[in-house]
Formats: sequence, structure tokens, C-alpha cells
Amino acid sequence: MHYFALFLLFRIKIDLFFENRIMNALVDAGILKQHLIDPVVCIRCNTCEATCPVGAITHDDRNYVVDANICNGCMACVSPCPTGSIDHWQPIALDQAFSIADQLTWDELPELKDVKDITPSAAALEAAAKPTAPSLVVNVSLSSTVAPPSAARPSTNLFTAQKPAKAKVTGNLRITDKNAGNDTHHVVLDFGDVHFPVLEGQNIGITPPGVDANGRAHMPRQYSIASPRDGERAGFNNLSITVKRVTDHDGKPYLGPASNYVCDFNIGDEIDVIGPFGSTFLIPNDPKANLLMICTGTGSAPMRGFTEHTRRQAAQGNPHGKLMLFFGARTQGELPYFGPLTKLPASLIDVNFAFSRTPNAPKQYVQDVMLQRAADVATLLKDSNTYLYVCGLKGMEAGVIAALESICRGTGLDWASTAQTMKTQGRIHLETY
Ligand code: A2P
Repeated sequence: MHYFALFLLFRIKIDLFFENRIMNALVDAGILKQHLIDPVVCIRCNTCEATCPVGAITHDDRNYVVDANICNGCMACVSPCPTGSIDHWQPIALDQAFSIADQLTWDELPELKDVKDITPSAAALEAAAKPTAPSLVVNVSLSSTVAPPSAARPSTNLFTAQKPAKAKVTGNLRITDKNAGNDTHHVVLDFGDVHFPVLEGQNIGITPPGVDANGRAHMPRQYSIASPRDGERAGFNNLSITVKRVTDHDGKPYLGPASNYVCDFNIGDEIDVIGPFGSTFLIPNDPKANLLMICTGTGSAPMRGFTEHTRRQAAQGNPHGKLMLFFGARTQGELPYFGPLTKLPASLIDVNFAFSRTPNAPKQYVQDVMLQRAADVATLLKDSNTYLYVCGLKGMEAGVIAALESICRGTGLDWASTAQTMKTQGRIHLETY
């Protein structure tokens, strides 16, 4: 076997050992390696906040920031971060660590100092001598922080806000019923001769023009790619995204600057795109893999990419595992891609809709329909080739997990250990917002 793999593992362990030693040694000397997020590179996707096991990360309308009093340097947030913006460590005297309030005002990181240029004050040395209480674990995300092991290697951060890729709008189609309140668009972007390689499940960023209420340039918004890796149209250098027009916030009238910009694109418009982003919410490259997909609204975008990739593989005679989809919307007219989804053959995908506001019909959420299909969901959960993807409303996460727990209980499976195994094997991916 794989002496080389063993050697690599050994190297990683040694490196981590020394990394931790360095961090502790610095604290002992009254100097902290403060964990910071680069506001220029961060795409505000919330992955770090959702992943942090001690609740050290928070955000406002503009920045994601780390509380130096809580962060324990566990690194859990580092590999899931799609951009690498999370991986900044500023040596600083312990009593001068940047506060949350400081970090929320930043447009860029302060200049990095070298350790040898920092002289800790007596107060910093005193603070270092005090024993620190262990951080409280407040949130352990179920989501894998690694991709499925067989997934293709994604390219990330090829184009930045400073050096965006130019793309041309070649399609913009409303995909919810024209009478529905939910105005969701399928937008196709063509990259011409620019190499912009993507995998299903990755995201791109688009920055709306203009400035926010404080006169600062808008931040890029992130959109999941809805097309397969070989293009919205196979063999073309294009991709698609699914965008819902945002017209209210907390019940108040409000025009989302980014979603309205995108939904109003004209064919032929030339726009700036950054990315691609994302290195974990990916599908395995394994003909035995089953995909269990649960989504609401525009959370359907990655599921469309996964399904279309599998459909194209199948059309070329390649085998594939089972695909099972649970998709929730208020009504049939509000469900993006309803028509095309109903035309997919049962041999490709087992599609289950949940409608919550169909007149004269009981309210149904995705988790209710999962319970109705408990036997088939359980069969998938028992199979070590099954990969679970959840994307859409934050609120659905708890209900979906409760349904999975209940389905496991009914079939003698232990959900906690099943989920933990799936998590470590890159088989459970949650992206909710
Ligand atoms: P509801 O009728 O209660 O709003 P939206 O259209 O707002 O994007 O929502 C998509 C679907 O998700 C709707 O059917 C909505 O139902 C449903 N939904 C709302 N909250 C939850 C939840 N906690 N769990 C599952 N589905 C939910």
C-alpha cells in the first residue's frame, strides 16, 4: 500500500502538531495569532458561521467576523470556506486583539505584522498567564467539511472582484408561473473564450452596480450553478443560475439590489462574474452513488445540475445509482422548473413534490413527504453509497433532520451514528440560507 499516502498523512499530522505548538507558544508569550476574515475575498456565504463549533463567528449586513474571545483555533471553518478568505491569522498582543466592532467596519484587513515586531505589554503577559475557560460548544454542524472522495477536483477563486471574468447573458427566462408571486429566473451566461471551469454544486458571484445605503459599493452575491459541468448546453462554454427576485424583507417592501439586477438582465448584456466557489457540495464520480436531494425554491439549482449531469451520463450508456428528490414550494406554479421536472423519466429520478399552499389541499412540507416515503428513504440511508444534499430555506433544516431521525428510528438505524459516518465520509451536505 500506499507508502506515499502514509507518508503524506504523517507529514500532515506533524505539520498540525507544530502549527498548534506555535499558536500556544505565542499565547504564552502574550501574543495571540488572531483569526480574521478577509473582507475583500469573503463572499458572505455563511458557511463559516454555520460550521464554527463554538459560535465564534458572526456577521452584520456587510462583514463576517471572528470573536477572539471565543475562537479556539480549531480550524473547523477553514476547509469548508469556498474562498480561503477565512484563513488569516494576525499576530497581535493579547490585550490589543481586534474587537468584533472594529472588524465590522473594515473594508480590508489591516496590514499584517511580523511576530518579531510585536512587543507584548505587561497587561498582555498577565492575561497570557491566566488560565482560559474552555470554549462552549454551541453548534456542531452536520454538514461534511470534505467533498465526496471520488468527486472531481473543483477549481476555485479563479476570478476575483479585482479581476472578474466577463460573461455575456444569452438567456433569461422566468421559470415560475406568470401569475405566481414568486418570480424566479433561469439565467444563462456565456463565457466566450474565457476558461471558467465549474462543477455541479459550485457557485458564482455577481456584484450589483451602485452603492448601498452607506455609500459603499455593494458586495457580490452568490448564486448556485444550475447546469452540469459541460455547460447549460453540452459542449458550450456557458452555465446557468437560478435567481429569485427579492421584493420584500421582513414583510416590508424592498428591492434586492442583486436579484433585481440579475432578473432584469437583457440578452447580450456583458457582466462581471467572480468565482467559481465551493469545494465540498459536490457529487461523487461513482456509478454506484445514490443521490438523496432535498430542496426548496432556488435551492433546486444544484439539484438540477446533479440531475442533468446524471441524465447526460445515462444518455451515453453510463450506469448510475438511484436519484431521489424532495422539492417543496407553496404551489405548483411557484415551483421553479416544475414542467421540465415532470418530464424526467422514473428510471432516472424519483421526484416528490411538497406543496404548502395549494387551495383545498393539506399543507405539506418536504419533511412530511419524506415521512410518507420512509421505507425508500431508509433503504437509501442504509446504503453506504448514498450521498445526502439539502439546499434551500434555513427553516427546513430542523424539520428535515427530525424526519431523517424518525425514519431511522422506524427501521432500527441510529441516526446520530449514521449522520456522523456520512459526515466524515463526505456524504452529507447542507446549504441553507
Ligand atoms: P410556507 O407555505 O409555510 O411558506 P418559499 O416560497 O418561501 O421560498 O418557501 C418554499 C417552501 O418551503 C414553501 O412551501 C414554504 O411553506 C416551505 N417552508 C417554509 N418553512 C418551512 C420549514 N420550516 N420546513 C419546510 N418547509 C418550509
